[in-house]
Amino acid sequence: VHSFHKLQAFFRRGIGSDAVAVHAETVRKLQCDEQNGHRALHILQEERRKQAQRSVLISCQVTTNEKKFLKYLSQHGDINKFFFYESYGLYAVVEFSSSESVASLLESSVIPSVSHECVVPFKSRLLWLRNHSLVDSGGQTSGLVCQAQTTTPINELIHRISTQESIEQQMMSLTEASQLTEENSRLRFLVCSLLEDIATAYFPECTITPFGSSVNGFGKLGCDLDMFLNLDNIKGRNMRLPKSGLSLEYQMKRANSERAVTQSILSVIGECVDQFGPGCVGVQKILNARCPLVRFSHQPSGFQCDLTANNRVAMKSTELLYLYGGLDARVRHLVFSVRCWARVHGITSSIPGAWITNFSLTMMVLFFLQRRNPPIIPTLDQLQQLAGPADKSIIDGNDCTFVSDFAKVQLQSNTETLEQLLSAFFEFYATFNFSRLSINIRKGKEQNKPEMSPLHILNPFETSLNISKNVNVTQLDRFVALCQESSWLSQQSRTLNPKKSTSGKNTAMPWGLAALLLPLQVDGIKGRKKKTRELASERIKSLLVSLKKKDSPTS
Ligand code: GTP
Ligand code: MG
Repeated sequence: VHSFHKLQAFFRRGIGSDAVAVHAETVRKLQCDEQNGHRALHILQEERRKQAQRSVLISCQVTTNEKKFLKYLSQHGDINKFFFYESYGLYAVVEFSSSESVASLLESSVIPSVSHECVVPFKSRLLWLRNHSLVDSGGQTSGLVCQAQTTTPINELIHRISTQESIEQQMMSLTEASQLTEENSRLRFLVCSLLEDIATAYFPECTITPFGSSVNGFGKLGCDLDMFLNLDNIKGRNMRLPKSGLSLEYQMKRANSERAVTQSILSVIGECVDQFGPGCVGVQKILNARCPLVRFSHQPSGFQCDLTANNRVAMKSTELLYLYGGLDARVRHLVFSVRCWARVHGITSSIPGAWITNFSLTMMVLFFLQRRNPPIIPTLDQLQQLAGPADKSIIDGNDCTFVSDFAKVQLQSNTETLEQLLSAFFEFYATFNFSRLSINIRKGKEQNKPEMSPLHILNPFETSLNISKNVNVTQLDRFVALCQESSWLSQQSRTLNPKKSTSGKNTAMPWGLAALLLPLQVDGIKGRKKKTRELASERIKSLLVSLKKKDSPTS
């Protein structure tokens, strides 16, 4: 313990003053680049939606000749962008310059005649390439370059980041390897656009847009596709009848509640997706959930899709996360590292249950960044104060207003490195008083818990709700124990950097962040007696508390 204190003091003293100045400058530049490069989410969404409407998805053969294929498609108009990818077969996404080209392409496409079955004659922009003269002879693969749409396997990722020079670079490399690519993002908007074609058959003015991690900046390859069916822009809503003279009103079906209307719309569209939607399989209507949804798998893209309607607050939280992620590059890097760490240790799961969700975990990272001194990101209340008239948003009586213009947000000059932040994150939650306090990103301060759920994270827009109500004591304990162990390890892991060791061996032995992604002691203690676990975790906790005391300027 004594030598550990020394080590810790050494690392906390950190880099020399020149290096600090250079680092501060780099951080400021990163913050500015980050802010300048971002446009409000709704502008980006609209641009991507238009691109998707001009695009088609074509199932090809591995022997497809790229040149001939493009030449054939170009008969219908100029191609802006195309790429190939593999998902149970080879597919091409092709974006034309104009939507007339898509219409012309569809006009020339043939409805298949099948011998023993019959087809539903629903036309979509999902097509097969059937022209054999476009295929290279000899059954050879044509050497098409495919864009990866899946995430790097964990062992490969650990190996890759182990070759980096610093923990900071490891974290950046992890983000680079996990984040959504330009192509994957286009594919997500295209799948929404294909679904929109089904929904607009009933509601011509509706839109379907992605929300959640597909667009909030924190999505990783392979994450689900959350879709929002927006019926708010249907004209005629909130229009006043003239005070005198004749006027007409639509006759419409009525239901007891907005929820009942949403359920009925999702039920019908879900049925349509199931019966008519090419490539959509395993459709489940989960209409009695708190937020009714239709879940299905879109085979050609490989996406697990969740279609919701009337879910405006979730869209607002997506915008908020997008804003936070765009303010300072460190936000996304830290979130990606923490999410990956949580996933490998089974803190988060793809199966719903008492686990902490990625959404809750992201809130915890944001809260931690608000609690730094000086804070790295502003509180939601501060973002609300910066809002302009166009940002005003009241949803079901909840004030969801906050600034959307990145340039209006002035950041404080915090120059902490990613390495310091990662280690501090684990320490923060290893010693957090979960039994008494609530995490509140609106205020950026701990508040007393209003109810007794083990983990209380305030829903930022519906402040009477707790977004982590599902989490049970066991899962919270596991999170805390892993934070304790990782905090302990992260403060030592730099010593394990083989590049910095005197032996000078340039091996790719897992070190730094990579070492935190390997199985930890806490992972293996599930089967052991609870008492041993409590003792171990108490020991580490008291050690951390004593380190904290030693570190504080008053001691
Ligand atoms: P992934 O795990 O990568 O899919 O992250 P995600 O952010 O997309 O989470 P998820 O698919 O579970 O939810 C999609 C979006 O719904 C989130 O980004 C939030 O905006 C919203 N959301 C999810 N869970 C909650 C919750 O418990 N409360 C509220 N208010 N919104 C939620
Ligand atoms: Mg999601």
